[in-house]
Amino acid sequence: FGTTNYVNDHLTIGGVPVPYLAEKYGTPLFIYDVALMRQQMRAFKEVFTKRKLAHRVIYASKAFCSTAMYQLLQQEQLGCDVVSGGELYAALAAGMDPAMMEFHGNNKSKAELTAAVTAGIGKIVVDNFHEIELLNQVLAEQQTTQEVLFRIAPGVTAETHDYILTGQQDSKFGFDVASGQAEEALVQLLHSPRIKIQGIHFHIGSQIFAATGYEKALERTFNLLTKWRSKFGFTARIVNIGGGFGVRYTENDNPNTPVQLMTQITDTFVQHVQEQHYPLPEIWIEPGRSIVAEAGTTVYQVGSSKHIPGIRQYISVDGGMGDNIRPALYDATYNFVPVELTNEHNLAPQTIRITGKYCESGDILQKSITLPHLAPGDLIAMQSTGAYGYSMASSYNNNPRPAVVFVEDGQDHLVIRRETYADLTRLNIPLPNETQSQG
Ligand code: LLP
Repeated sequence: FGTTNYVNDHLTIGGVPVPYLAEKYGTPLFIYDVALMRQQMRAFKEVFTKRKLAHRVIYASKAFCSTAMYQLLQQEQLGCDVVSGGELYAALAAGMDPAMMEFHGNNKSKAELTAAVTAGIGKIVVDNFHEIELLNQVLAEQQTTQEVLFRIAPGVTAETHDYILTGQQDSKFGFDVASGQAEEALVQLLHSPRIKIQGIHFHIGSQIFAATGYEKALERTFNLLTKWRSKFGFTARIVNIGGGFGVRYTENDNPNTPVQLMTQITDTFVQHVQEQHYPLPEIWIEPGRSIVAEAGTTVYQVGSSKHIPGIRQYISVDGGMGDNIRPALYDATYNFVPVELTNEHNLAPQTIRITGKYCESGDILQKSITLPHLAPGDLIAMQSTGAYGYSMASSYNNNPRPAVVFVEDGQDHLVIRRETYADLTRLNIPLPNETQSQG
């Protein structure tokens, strides 16, 4: 769960001491270890290149996106998915090649589809019948064609938190296989002259460690594909198996790495292709969390504390549910480490509850953890916060969103500046004067 590296008793990330970063940029601060992200991106690709499989690794923007992140994806030749007009805009503005992008979502608007088509997006992942209709309208208006994948709900329940399950039959995402809707969708897509159907997609959920769910989904997918090949002469050029590969947040999590899981899934993929004599499709994956989670660390400064004798020691930090909603929303657990090690601290470990500064009792970052004694002003690091932390951040209680810094080879680069109080009121419009004086 992240890298814990102390140099001269200072937590150090990417060759840069964390106290220096906290001093320079303030806290709370998100720090991303760029080398670790590159390593993950390359490791995924290697699973496929080793087996000589045509592939594409498409980063799921929703896990964390910023201009610098898109630049990194370009450098490493990854694609990205977008799930809204806003993500599409941000990726294009950052210089992503539209051909390397996919557009996902269960309720894309006509305006969003038009923007994607006009931008020349590589693939639209069609999710439902309404979208087929909208897309056909857009393509007729734009007098153009579009390559698509279509998303099925394979009817597989993976082992993860209910809120992040997506492949089960009772899901809002994708065409239902069991009731024949997936086949009906394929027929409609094949009859849409402007839609060029390239393949199939499923995504069974997020933070998954077991290969079983993927294996079941692959089995169903290849059974369908084989049937559709003989029934309609349709051959999928691409099979996209989505993302969801689990990462270790604490020592209680499964020690298997996302790349080990990927290797197992890939072997199953190849096995189905061979058994069914299916023309070898490209394998596409959409990892989000597994690329950025462990590379991210949030640094907080300790403030007040409260000791309730015989009950609990609370320690509050200067951030909380606004910069990381995951503990409150999913009961997610994270590991914390001190930023500075001193002998004095090591002598007095304490079991504490780490809470944020938001006006909610549920604003708990860690229910119970034993750490060296912490005093006001001390820095602590929450590890593996790189995925769905900043991207789900809010300015609740008008607390500005933190800054984000990338570190690599001893260099630090601010990639998202800290929100200011002026940013927080920027969208406000005062009432006209007459109305104000009426009361
Ligand atoms: N592809 C599709 C179609 C997705 O819906 C998702 C995530 C991904 C790929 C990337 O999944 P990943 O590799 O990151 O697990 N906010 C939740 C996670 C929601 C995931 C939504 N879809 C969390 O913080 O756990």
